[in-house]
Parts: sequence; C-alpha cells; structure tokens
Amino acid sequence: MAGYSGVLWPDGLLLAQQLLHLWVRGGWFVPEWKGRCLELAAGIFALPSLVLAGSGRFSEVVATDLPGIVGANHSSINNNNHGFRADSLDLCRARDVEGMGKFDVIASSGVCQTNCGPAALVGLSTVGTVVYMVVRSDAADLHRVDFLLRGYFRELFRLDLGQAGRIHPGEQAYFLIWQRQFGPHSCWSEGYTFATCCLDRQDTHSCFDQVFTREICCGSQSP
Ligand SMILES: C[S@@+](CC[C@H](N)C(=O)[O-])C[C@H]1O[C@@H](n2cnc3c(N)ncnc32)[C@H](O)[C@@H]1O
Repeated sequence: MAGYSGVLWPDGLLLAQQLLHLWVRGGWFVPEWKGRCLELAAGIFALPSLVLAGSGRFSEVVATDLPGIVGANHSSINNNNHGFRADSLDLCRARDVEGMGKFDVIASSGVCQTNCGPAALVGLSTVGTVVYMVVRSDAADLHRVDFLLRGYFRELFRLDLGQAGRIHPGEQAYFLIWQRQFGPHSCWSEGYTFATCCLDRQDTHSCFDQVFTREICCGSQSP
C-alpha cells in the first residue's frame, strides 16, 4: 500500500467534518430517495463514507481506492452493513469506472489529485448527481477542477475553509458542492468546451496548460 493512502489526510478529515455539519443541519442538497453514494480515492480510513453511511440517507455507500487500500480497516462495518461496503476502483481504468454504473452522490477529497479524476467524476455521474469535494488550492487544484468540470457541473455551494477558520492560517482549501447538469456532449454540440475536450483526451494536465482549438479537439471536419 502506498504510504500516502495509509494515513488520514487533513482533507479527508475536513470532508468528513463538512458532511457531518450538513447531516446535522439537514442541508444535504440530495434527493429525498435513498440513492447510491460513492467515495473516490478514499484512502484506508474512508471517513467521509462512514459519515455518509451513518446518516442512513443512502441505499448503499461504496468507498473506493486503488486495489488493497480501502476495506481492511472496515471488516466489522462491512459485516454490519449500514449500506457501507468497500471496493477497489482505479480511476484511470476507464472500463472499471464504466462498470461501476452511475451514482446519485459522489464524495472525494483526493479525486482531483490524479489526472484521471475529473473524467471519472463525469463517467460516474448522471444529470442531478451531487458531488461533495474538498479541494486544496495550493496544488492549483481548484482552478483545474473549475476549468475541467464546469462544462458538466454547476456549483451549488462553496465554503472557503480558511475564512471559516477550519484550517491553519495561510492554508487554502475549499469545500465544494457541485451538481451535474448536462449529459454527454458530442464533439460539435453547443455544450462542447475545451474542458470537455481535455476530459475526452484523458490528458488533463497537458491539456490544461495549452490552448486547444475546436479543430484540434474534434478533427478538422465539422459534421
Ligand atoms: C492524498 S490521498 C487522500 C486519501 C483520503 N481521501 C484522505 O483524505 O485521507 C490520495 C488517494 O488517492 C488514491 N489514488 C491515487 N491514484 C488513484 C487512482 N488512479 N485511482 C484511485 N485512487 C487513486 C491514493 O491511493 C490515495 O489513497
């Protein structure tokens, strides 16, 4: 197990705390029915998933990470259920992502640190899906996430955790709630943006740094 998966990261703790606040205040931004919930890049502890499962709001809560990481710690919870289960999911394996199906709620504090994260978020969501994220801006994550996802998601809520006094002074992190607005875009449709192009290419870093024209994204022939 990579060392960095074996600890509870501050962002995982922050996400769990924010979800707990939402739960206590009843401000979930989720549908009334008991939907499917997924945590991505959950690490060994998957604390946000435990909060989500404990709320009793979901038919299932699936905590995922690379193989062998999430789960070992949670055998008793797996047995007791509470709708919680652990699974492996490599966000860079498009076929595995597709095999998971769609989720009503997705939570993560690490998904956007991997290149494949934003495309996986699009693949695992459907119109109406709510995404809870903690994103740290010192890794330039916030701008990258905004750029990549705004073609698909609308921001419902943003909390500056620094201004809210939830993190050390000088650090910058945000709790974000997004909602999926659009289905897939075809290359020449109106909603197709360069961010969509980046996601399609699964090459988010280099794409983010360069200027792509629609011709480069879609090929020179318009339909
Ligand atoms: C910084 S850790 C955060 C872990 C946890 N969310 C937390 O806050 O404690 C980033 C996580 O991303 C996971 N990760 C990295 N690449 C991944 C991939 N391709 N697919 C799924 N998870 C991945 C790592 O295994 C690690 O657990």
